[in-house]
Amino acid sequence: MKVLVVGKGGREHALCWRFNQSPSVWGVYCTSGSPGINQVAKPVAIAPGDFAGLIGFVREQKIDLTVVGPEEPLANGIVDEFARAGLTIFGPTRAAAQLESSKSFAKTVMREAGVPTAAFAIFDDAEAARRHVDAIARPCVVKADGLAYGKGVTVCDDAVQARAAIGEAMDARRFGAAGARIVIEDRLAGEELSFFALCDGDEAIALGCAQDHKAVFDGDRGPNTGGMGAYSPVPGYGAEFESRVMDEVVRPTLAAMRARGVPFRGVLFVGLMVDGDRINVLEYNVRFGDPECEPLMMRFEGDLGEALLAIAEGRARDAAVRLAPRPAVAVVLASGGYPGEYRIGLPIAGLERIDGAAPSDAKVRWAMERTRVKVFHAGTALAGTTLVTDGGRVLTVTAMADGLERAIAAAYEAAGLIEFEGMHLRRDVGRRALGRDAADR
Ligand code: AMP
Ligand code: GLY
Repeated sequence: MKVLVVGKGGREHALCWRFNQSPSVWGVYCTSGSPGINQVAKPVAIAPGDFAGLIGFVREQKIDLTVVGPEEPLANGIVDEFARAGLTIFGPTRAAAQLESSKSFAKTVMREAGVPTAAFAIFDDAEAARRHVDAIARPCVVKADGLAYGKGVTVCDDAVQARAAIGEAMDARRFGAAGARIVIEDRLAGEELSFFALCDGDEAIALGCAQDHKAVFDGDRGPNTGGMGAYSPVPGYGAEFESRVMDEVVRPTLAAMRARGVPFRGVLFVGLMVDGDRINVLEYNVRFGDPECEPLMMRFEGDLGEALLAIAEGRARDAAVRLAPRPAVAVVLASGGYPGEYRIGLPIAGLERIDGAAPSDAKVRWAMERTRVKVFHAGTALAGTTLVTDGGRVLTVTAMADGLERAIAAAYEAAGLIEFEGMHLRRDVGRRALGRDAADR
């Protein structure tokens, strides 16, 4: 089959790379490609938002399956348009994508489904919201309803901070229309985990857990980013935990969506807060996480093309989904200054030492023999023949090995071979899980 991937970041590179290794897939296309993606897929110069252009391309090239990486085209109804045109696409409809694009919708579905989540209230009026935070007088979280690229959530200690957050979202409209409505919920404590399930509307297949590192600096300090690193699986959250999340969260959510007449198809990415035995849902996303997708794709065994086609066609039962038990770790190499201002166009050195590793290089040989290492491109471009930086997150160095400690070591060893001016990375990706990994074994 021929597959089109929509998007062009590290997540989409990982998807293209895995599709390229699928026995059933003989053509991989990607809009709009990157120097890394172009090694495993044919670039397509159509914007992810140009649905008519994409539909034309898919018809002309007889693409069998389209897979969407980012949330924006999903929230804007790319799946509805493809379905209307009779084309097969993996992802939720616009109405179902509200699980991510509207926090009030998501919370309402959680309540209908009986999914455990923080107590909440929804406001369209700033004054009423302010009265509410004064009245509850406990730590809360203020969330802009719409898509705000991870910036619309403010975790507050007290009513003073909550009032400020309400003002930013509703009065100053810092997140535009996304902040016209807000959700205020109780602040929860615990361990944050990402859980992924592939859903066909009726049934779901667990992909298991990953853990993201959202803050820019080590020890979870500094502003939040799109994600500075991730690893999967998460020690201590194995099969038993997975089946609990499937029973308490994923299946009830799918049932509630069906009951609303908006069955959910695609990747359900559940943001969890776990505190001892208590599992609470913080949010839903309707796509793969980035960088969580990179370790998941490295662990994915079997034919990704057949699996996602089966799910897109409502036949999850036929999808052979298996993840290698070996852990994979992704370390993001970011531009200096990210998530604030940063420069682009800076030459990147050292990639060839990993991808086309010279056998004489002992360090690289070690990495290649003992582990799998793959560098996914998140934001790169070519300036002539030179690979240069072209985004806040530049590369995602991903490694899989026999244990978490080895995978971490290999990812950092490979990352150490890469250089560009101002390069920033977290040094502690996966470190917190290491103690637990040892305890599990
Ligand atoms: P969200 O986009 O809803 O996942 O929120 C972004 C981040 O805010 C999460 O990754 C959490 O770190 C934090 N957060 C969201 N909701 C809560 C909550 N109820 N309690 C504590 N932290 C939260
Ligand atoms: N890494 C978090 C996300 O993709 O939303």
